[in-house]
Amino acid sequence: DIFADRRNSAGIDLSDPAVREPLMARLKNLENIHWRAEPTFPGDTPGEIAPITMPHDLSAVVGTRRDATAEEVDDAFARAARIQPGWDALGGERRALLLEEAADLFEAHTDEFLSLCQREAGKTLLDAVLELREAVDFLRYYAQGARNQFGAPTILPGPTGEENSLSLHGRGVFATISPWNFPLAIFTGMAAAALAAGNAVIAKPAEQTPLIAALAVKLCHEAGIPPEALQLLPGAGQVGQLITANPLLAGVAFTGSTETAQAINRTLAGRDGPIATLIAETGGQNAMIVDSSALPEQVVRDVLASAFQSAGQRCSALRVLYLQDDIADAMLAMIRGGFEALNIGDPASLATDVGPVIDPDAQARLERHVARCLASDRKVTRLPLPPGVEAGCFVAPTIVEIGSIRDLSREHFGPVLHVARFKASQLEQVIEDINASGYGLTLGLHSRIAATRRFVQARARVGNFYVNRNQIGAVVESQPFGGEGLSGTGPKAGGPHYLARFATERVMTIDT
Ligand code: NAD
Ligand code: ALA
Repeated sequence: DIFADRRNSAGIDLSDPAVREPLMARLKNLENIHWRAEPTFPGDTPGEIAPITMPHDLSAVVGTRRDATAEEVDDAFARAARIQPGWDALGGERRALLLEEAADLFEAHTDEFLSLCQREAGKTLLDAVLELREAVDFLRYYAQGARNQFGAPTILPGPTGEENSLSLHGRGVFATISPWNFPLAIFTGMAAAALAAGNAVIAKPAEQTPLIAALAVKLCHEAGIPPEALQLLPGAGQVGQLITANPLLAGVAFTGSTETAQAINRTLAGRDGPIATLIAETGGQNAMIVDSSALPEQVVRDVLASAFQSAGQRCSALRVLYLQDDIADAMLAMIRGGFEALNIGDPASLATDVGPVIDPDAQARLERHVARCLASDRKVTRLPLPPGVEAGCFVAPTIVEIGSIRDLSREHFGPVLHVARFKASQLEQVIEDINASGYGLTLGLHSRIAATRRFVQARARVGNFYVNRNQIGAVVESQPFGGEGLSGTGPKAGGPHYLARFATERVMTIDT
């Protein structure tokens, strides 16, 4: 086992008041910090400056983002290209120690990270804790991978008198371009993997969440990772475009929407320089199928978590629930009961189940979708928004009844659950319809029938198939995560094949 002797982070037990209460008090004390994100090596002419506001209260400024200029992008690549051979030559063991030191520093700065997850990204405390855990897990998991896959060369068989060996090396300068919905875990995971494999990294966080990324990079530098080997370049899509067009780029690890992955593919195809690798983890049109053998209480719990935790802003989140027709009415009544008990509001409150969506654009897109559903006479159930949330980007959790997944042409990234019905004899058709969406990220199934589980698994083209549980929150190493088709290229994050895609393989043959 190349990842032996490693444990996932224990996280924080929020059910224990002796842990929770002091933590909440400490988080309160961090509310007045003004955070900053700027390029790791700022140039002489500063780029644009933008305030970062809280998604749940747009009048509250959390910090300032200073965007990278075209000149800073070019300089960052030149610096990264100079240091990369030395970073690669350091070897897997030394890089592992630095990444592990960074993991320890992340844990030592738990409060700041949780505060930023809440204030910059609008995450509930539970989601913030899970996010930090995942970031720490990625650092330690890829450190272990560096140690075990990037150490001594693998000796290969050869004819008598010849020695053959295979070793893995960094490809060069890797760009990591990340989304706002896991502003710490995914930002850290992609950068840690690229570094572990011996690449220098140009890291561009999402424009909505650069502050938490800036803290992560600062701690990586404090851990001893050279600043030239890990450079932050804040900015919006235009900065990402400049990065992916740079001729020194050897590869891109991207997580975000399918449309942006396609745009990056086009940029890479049109540029000079090495043929760059693209690792893309993108959107989903994720379904859950519930048959009449399912346990109703378990279904309610798992549907609500899959569709509404994180305000539905997980790529893994449930978008289309398929209920077998003979249980559909009763099941839907129970789901509505749980749905009506959801608390919407300030993510700083422990009572909150559903926080804000990320920004006014996301809010407007979701509202347009719900308005179209209402206009098309679909049955729509919405929770009322509580008073006092007007200054934030809140979208009322919504359930829309539809005919099938074919009624949806794209991912709706927020707290909107679509529900369809099927007859037992239509199960194969349901799976065909899900496959026909072109996405292939997560699929849930609630069924006590082993033959049904095998039937679905054999046909569904998805990366992560969850049976009799919710379909979010993949755990590093246990549930390597990622999709296929419109959902991504693979390999799976937090899985045994991830690091190798960031590497180039070299073989040496010696005739003795
Ligand atoms: P997005 O595609 O809008 O942005 C992602 C990143 O790409 C940002 O940093 C953005 O600035 C950058 N970008 C935008 N245009 C670019 C361009 N032309 N060239 C280079 N970079 C560019 O996505 P988002 O709204 O930040 O994130 C939400 C999406 O991410 C959803 O579709 C979700 O499903 C997906 N996602 C997927 C996974 C996964 O593991 N499969 C995980 C999390 C989120
Ligand atoms: N890895 C995240 C999840 O599984 C996206 O929910």
